[in-house]
Amino acid sequence: MADVAVSAEAKGGSISRREFLYYIWGASIALYAAQFSGLLIWFLLPRFREGEFGGRFIISMEELPEVNAEPVNVPAGRFWLVNLDTTQPNELMKKAPDETEEIVGVAAIYKVCTHLGCIYAWTEANNRFECPCHGSKYRLDGRRIESPAPRTLDRFRMEFLDADRNPIPDTLSEDVNDFYAPVRIPDNAAFISVDTGDRKMGPSQDLLCSFTNECP
Ligand code: FES
Repeated sequence: MADVAVSAEAKGGSISRREFLYYIWGASIALYAAQFSGLLIWFLLPRFREGEFGGRFIISMEELPEVNAEPVNVPAGRFWLVNLDTTQPNELMKKAPDETEEIVGVAAIYKVCTHLGCIYAWTEANNRFECPCHGSKYRLDGRRIESPAPRTLDRFRMEFLDADRNPIPDTLSEDVNDFYAPVRIPDNAAFISVDTGDRKMGPSQDLLCSFTNECP
């Protein structure tokens, strides 16, 4: 016992090499555990909240545009809502010669031009979307009228909800050839849910101006 007391006193405040390695090992474990916990929390937290771009947007049916009327702008979600029906054609929306199926239903169209990413706008005087950067033009449903845009405007996935905000069966956007088709409005629809985290790129289709020989 006397030897031990003398030895401890002789060492004073210094630590042995073995103790030092233990401390380093313990600190490494603690650091690793902290990093793992942080990653787990980051992974479990939702990335996007409802009402933020990247998340879901719930919109009342009262906000929906009339059939083949000017689109409704949803700036926070970076999309336009359109209500299409080529069985009731007008200046804003009518079938092109290569379209055999009627285009009927609601779509949520991404507000970024498919050419180089500018923000285009609805031009009331011309009844179409027009991009200020290089002049691309699009029909109400997003199909190209004039280039240089390489394809139709992109669309977000959407579905209709009832008054209790429950999804209405068979109203989720249908994936047709890797593009979201417009969704027909069900009788009991009270809200539209648009998922801005789920986007499909528009297809390349012939320019609408080519059918009327009006391409610049
Ligand atoms: S970015 Fe729209 S036409 Fe070029």
